[in-house]
Amino acid sequence: MNIKDLYIDFFVKKGHKQIPSAPVVPENDPSVLFNTAGMQPLIPYLMGEPHPYGTRLCDYQKCIRTNDLDVIGDTYHHTFFEMLGNWSLGDYFKDEAIEWSFEFLTKVLNIPLERLAVTVYAGKGNIPFDKVSHDKWLSLGIKEERIARTVDDNFWIAGETGPCGPDTEMFYFRSNEPIPEKFDPEDERWVEIWNDVFMQYKKNSDGSIEELPKKNVDTGMGLERVTAVLEGVNDNYLSSIWKDVIEVISKISSLPYEGNETSMRIIADHIRTAVFISADPAGIKPSNVGQGYILRRLIRRAIRHAKKLNIDINSDWESQIASLIMDKYEIYYSEIKDNRNIVLEVLKAEKEKFNKTLEKGLREFEKVAKNNKDLDAATSFRLYDTYGFPIELTVELANERGLKVDEEGFKEKYKNHQELSRTASAGQFKGGLSGNNEIETKYHTATHLLNAALKQVIGPTVHQKGSNITDERMRFDFSCDHKLSDEEKKQAEDLVNKWISEGLPVTVEEMNKEDAIASGAECMFIEKYPDIVTVYTIGNNISKELCGGPHVKNTNELGHFKIVKEEASSSGVRRIKAILE
Ligand code: ALA
Repeated sequence: MNIKDLYIDFFVKKGHKQIPSAPVVPENDPSVLFNTAGMQPLIPYLMGEPHPYGTRLCDYQKCIRTNDLDVIGDTYHHTFFEMLGNWSLGDYFKDEAIEWSFEFLTKVLNIPLERLAVTVYAGKGNIPFDKVSHDKWLSLGIKEERIARTVDDNFWIAGETGPCGPDTEMFYFRSNEPIPEKFDPEDERWVEIWNDVFMQYKKNSDGSIEELPKKNVDTGMGLERVTAVLEGVNDNYLSSIWKDVIEVISKISSLPYEGNETSMRIIADHIRTAVFISADPAGIKPSNVGQGYILRRLIRRAIRHAKKLNIDINSDWESQIASLIMDKYEIYYSEIKDNRNIVLEVLKAEKEKFNKTLEKGLREFEKVAKNNKDLDAATSFRLYDTYGFPIELTVELANERGLKVDEEGFKEKYKNHQELSRTASAGQFKGGLSGNNEIETKYHTATHLLNAALKQVIGPTVHQKGSNITDERMRFDFSCDHKLSDEEKKQAEDLVNKWISEGLPVTVEEMNKEDAIASGAECMFIEKYPDIVTVYTIGNNISKELCGGPHVKNTNELGHFKIVKEEASSSGVRRIKAILE
């Protein structure tokens, strides 16, 4: 049995229900681009909502962290990783959580006691030293000198606000050197493998902390790290998770891993993450915003490193690597099995697009770099705008030559450019609704209702991908992986007509962007909006969207809604044309 299965088996025997991994693109949480921890999809339940599976849960969750892309290439960071987790939602607390962590590590994974150490929360302000956890570890046989107390590293929260609490982290001594008696968390030979968070607090946006209605446990164990530890390798990419992927890259490039580690790790890591993003039901495609931009950056950086290894970019190298990765994961994640072709198409299309400009861009870069000149804002912006080099790629190229990039200047130019295109599209938008054309205003409100109806009929994965309104019809594009059945079309149509007949008020308010997102308002591309946004709400939160308007005052102004056509727009995106009669 592998570690994933051993973990689930262990916690199921302790009364937990296995829950499926949520998609990497959060379904109902527009405040983050990707799920970054196992607890992320569980936030509402940690805050007190009852979970349909009960109070003891476990899973392996796909996570993506992209805040430090430039550290990828070392032995242990990954953009995509799997997190094993078990949760108590107001059920067991510190005693059982620690006992079971200890049992799993020492009895199931057979880690010897002398290789283990832990940290506990030292206490600060109103939140006291976590004596319960400390004493529990002692009672299990962890020696006092192997229990370190810290403040900052032992209080866990996913972002700025939300459920949080003190934690206790477990460390493994990963080195063949003699094991020191006293544990020093700063000594890098001690590797953190598991974190038990005792989520009994909630942090508010004003910084205040209050008790949650229930005391929860949230744990997280990084699968790639624990696998490497158990297999006795000091480089995650030499563990069974990666070994065959590295071998394929080595074969394609005819180069050994030794001496080419950084590029090979980057290619392996970035292609794997790109596979999971493009296989996600959200239907993300490479673009210049949001998740699409991360996907683009990952693919382009992988291509650049493939080129460094003299891989023929026009060959099917990326498809060989991605196919092997998909072979490894499809038994665990159905979207990988279902979307194999989409993934390969996305990678190939983006490769072909970038490949057209990559050579020229690199030559442009060389021209500047050969004089050992730092890169000014104009050059890095030209590399971005004309040759499609994400800024991080330019910085990486420059760093390899010991050169600097005026990143601030780039940002300034980028912002002006965004500003210009936003004004242009706002202008078009206004133009489309010029003269407050009444019928177009009605169609605009109908678009919001249709979006809300599709979410109810098909599911929360439905997101607006585009819309176009004339005074004769509305067109609405949305993410959806299948052709709508007649039944689904009728249900959506009926729902919209029901809301129209209920005469729901349409209200508008100005909010700052973060609050709007936190309140659950839907939006297409968060980056596109200014800091203060208008939010339109229909009825009692039937629909809530960031939008510039205008809209009708009441849904009863719309008339009868009818879907006239449903068709494919692009892969993973469907298109509905509808009229108001
Ligand atoms: N949520 C905790 C973490 O990610 C378990 O470390």
